[in-house]
Amino acid sequence: MSNIIVLGAQWGDEGKGKIVDLFSDRFDIVARYQGGHNAGHTVFIGPTKYILKLIPSGILRPGVTAVIGNGVVIDPLALVEEMSTLEKAGVNVREQLAISNRAHVIFPFHRMVEKVGEGRSDREAIGTTSRGIGPCYEDKIGRRGIRMADLIDPAGFADYYNNLAADKVTLAKAFDVHEVIDFAAIRAQYEELAARLAPLVTDTAALLNRAIRDGKRILFEGAQGAMLDIDHGTYPFVTSSNATAGGACTGTGVPPTKINGIIGVSKAYITRVGAGPFPSEDHGPLGEKIRQVGKEFGSVTGRPRRCGWFDIPLARYTAAVNGIDSLIVTKLDVLDELDEIPVCVGYKVNGVEVTEMPATRSSMEQVEPVYVRLKGWQSSTRGISVMEQLPPAAIEYLRFLEERTEVEIGAISTGPERTETIVRPGSKLHQLLG
Ligand code: IMP
Repeated sequence: MSNIIVLGAQWGDEGKGKIVDLFSDRFDIVARYQGGHNAGHTVFIGPTKYILKLIPSGILRPGVTAVIGNGVVIDPLALVEEMSTLEKAGVNVREQLAISNRAHVIFPFHRMVEKVGEGRSDREAIGTTSRGIGPCYEDKIGRRGIRMADLIDPAGFADYYNNLAADKVTLAKAFDVHEVIDFAAIRAQYEELAARLAPLVTDTAALLNRAIRDGKRILFEGAQGAMLDIDHGTYPFVTSSNATAGGACTGTGVPPTKINGIIGVSKAYITRVGAGPFPSEDHGPLGEKIRQVGKEFGSVTGRPRRCGWFDIPLARYTAAVNGIDSLIVTKLDVLDELDEIPVCVGYKVNGVEVTEMPATRSSMEQVEPVYVRLKGWQSSTRGISVMEQLPPAAIEYLRFLEERTEVEIGAISTGPERTETIVRPGSKLHQLLG
């Protein structure tokens, strides 16, 4: 019985939502392990488009349990709104969703702290999603955060909340921030939200480990991407959680020994939202073309995504730090019209080839990408679901990526629909899916 992790192998927005949704019928549980409503998973079922931010996309399969793990940070208002949308669409949220009692809670003043931090002239802006994610994780690591169990604890919440509020008042004074915050109103609102969420809050680590003992299968759904990981990403232009595979264990309470496989998801090219180094970025008309054809605008913030070319050194790095067993390449069809497709095959810094991912901001910014140009196929791959039906140049492109990354490509996505996918028979991915 395989428990697998599906994670983004680039800077997020790789199309994990579709992949998780596609495979979730083979799993009993889909669990999120980090991030919050900064993530945006777009899933199409027939003509209907769903954007899920906090709730794992597995919830769209009747009978699948969706778990929000302890590593996730939860904005209760965003969660309740998402639950209502799904309920209106006929999803049995109350039956299918479990929320960790150890997940930390985002408050409106976390957004205020973030706004102040991002706007300060003495700090470089990260270009965050402005959802209060970072400041909530800061409170978690600072050991003053409030967890879901505290939020729904009528005996303790007021005290915990007042302490945290006092901390923010001190901070506001220190930074000379004069924004008026109605702390009492926020508390009352959160008490109401707590009453709605309480029936779903549970010890999800116990739930997951019990399920594993009973032979159930779990799919762990990563948010963001490996290059946005707080430790392994392009620090400081990262998110505040571990988006890499290790995060699945710390973020759910399931031990590494119970994870059987790791699936990375990459686009056939690459994108990034927000600030930070991006060696294979294309600032020219081709980058713009990819943005338009690939509809590369943030699903949460609507920001245009920066677009560039598949980056082999980056893919090799994320494959290594995550232990990726199989790669799924998405949005192949976006490249259909190009006559030539650049692929970044190496990095140089000051003319010298570097073999390891540069750690510092300055060295990463100095990277000169080395490109090879592969032949485009200039025909439609949209909707193709069998490898052999792909144009020869597209097969060659995928073979090249596979050879250079040294990771198998187990599946290819050729459109947003569930059916627009090639899963390669005999691949490790196929075996892991059982
Ligand atoms: P934060 O997660 O809101 O703190 O933002 C930190 C960085 O991560 C920014 O560059 C964001 O654009 C990026 N980011 C956060 N969530 C996502 C996502 O789901 N997809 C792509 N980028 C993201």
